[in-house]
Amino acid sequence: MSHDASPALFELRSVTKTFGATRALDSVNLELHAGEVHVLAGGNGAGKSTLIKILSGAISDYQGELCARGLPLRFADPGAARRHGVLTIHQELSLVPTLSITDNVLLAQGGRGWSFVSRRRASQQAAQACLGVGLDVSAETLVEALSISDRQLVEIARALHMGGARLVIFDEPTSALSDVESRRLLDRVEQLRASGCAVVYITHRMHEIRRLADRITVLRDGQVVLTRTRDELDDGELVRAMLGHDPSDQVRSGPAHVGRPRLTVRELPLGDGRVSFELHEGEILGLAGLMGSFAAALLLELFGAGAAARAERVQLEGRPFAPRSPGEALAHGVALLASDRSESVIASLSVLANATLSSLRAYTRLGFVSGARERADVQLHGARIALGAPSLAADAGTLSGGNQQKLALVRCLLTRPRVLLLDDPTRGVDVGARAEVHERVRELAQQGASVLLFSSDLDELCELCDRVLCLRRGSVVFESRRGDFDRERLLRALLGTSA
Ligand SMILES: Nc1ncnc2c1ncn2[C@@H]1O[C@H](COP(=O)(O)OP(=O)(O)OP(=O)(O)O)[C@@H](O)[C@H]1O
Ligand SMILES: [Mg+2]
Repeated sequence: MSHDASPALFELRSVTKTFGATRALDSVNLELHAGEVHVLAGGNGAGKSTLIKILSGAISDYQGELCARGLPLRFADPGAARRHGVLTIHQELSLVPTLSITDNVLLAQGGRGWSFVSRRRASQQAAQACLGVGLDVSAETLVEALSISDRQLVEIARALHMGGARLVIFDEPTSALSDVESRRLLDRVEQLRASGCAVVYITHRMHEIRRLADRITVLRDGQVVLTRTRDELDDGELVRAMLGHDPSDQVRSGPAHVGRPRLTVRELPLGDGRVSFELHEGEILGLAGLMGSFAAALLLELFGAGAAARAERVQLEGRPFAPRSPGEALAHGVALLASDRSESVIASLSVLANATLSSLRAYTRLGFVSGARERADVQLHGARIALGAPSLAADAGTLSGGNQQKLALVRCLLTRPRVLLLDDPTRGVDVGARAEVHERVRELAQQGASVLLFSSDLDELCELCDRVLCLRRGSVVFESRRGDFDRERLLRALLGTSA
């Protein structure tokens, strides 16, 4: 592919952005062309989101130049970028939860619809936009009633509905979506490319890069490591470029030592169905499910944050277990890593405070918090999963998205759980950190902890789990042991195309 003839649709020339002592972008050059999907890859904290914030007008104080068709310009705010046809789907969603889908769509259009378009018509259009991304719900539904993955689809529908797009930017759009929902989204992206839009697509998922990318730019520590067309770059080289070294992830080897049942669930009502299973000491049990599988609801229920406590249905080490609150679950050694980092990480608290939020009691003697031991433990756990934070005192909100996710995991590990509930633990986490998270989970199981893992990433289930349950609408539709399942098998079970 050659673009010598015409200037790039958008171009960054020697762009540098610093936050205090952090150099988030360092002399970055990037060309974006119409009809091309440009994948931005790189580890957590590499500078990807910062780069797109400059393209989308969310950051206007930076050094260097942004050009449109060869002419320099600077977006003062996101509105200015939108007027130049730059639409952005952010990593952290920007919908107003207490408003309906229709109102969120209208709001994004600057409210101009309210006076001129009839409510009914606006609602129809919003519903149409949602259908366009494969989301079949009433447009009058409040956003807060939607799952994260549905909210993601609304966000995308809203951006596409505004029209006039010349550049559409996706910052990890599928990190909250399962395989099937992701495919629908990728179709959408290909459609945009075919219609002549330039697309910037940020992802940590290799199979998405393989499928979508026309061109790939890898960032590391704020610098461009390489820009290549897809054909010029093989997977190994790509991963090495992102990490700066070879990856260390390995498949969990052999049948693990699995001990006595720790958690017994009998006929627990869930969605339209009921589930029964046993989770053993030292076992990693996987949960696979598409939207509406109720896998997340199951984890919440076991963490005391569900609809109702049902003592007779769940036993922990032979005793009825019906926590009425997360605090009670934690006191019994049951910890949950939630899927939504914007809920689990408190942006205005320090990294240290976030990390020890669930385990404060362990660091408190006679009412005093043992600061030194607390700090040492957080530092140790943080270092083991390569938590990228300037200091323990930094606000958690300044960490990159993937590093916030790692911080939430550190908090779980610090509670020394006997049962660890994981809701999509490596969503939005880079390949290197993913391997490190996996290593920690394996280690924990090796030491006898029981792990119940929901993942939207089927490869992750295959790499980690001793056993996998496939859930559909709150029922187990398929169960399989290590050695008997692979990605295809799980996918077929989820789609209902296998016995
Ligand atoms: N508002 C801010 N204040 C201080 N530092 C920031 C701020 N925003 C980003 N940073 C820092 O800039 C660097 C780049 O962050 P950025 O969010 O761009 O990374 P990223 O590549 O998007 O990572 P991820 O894959 O985890 O989303 C990180 O070190 C981050 O901590
Ligand atoms: Mg980011």
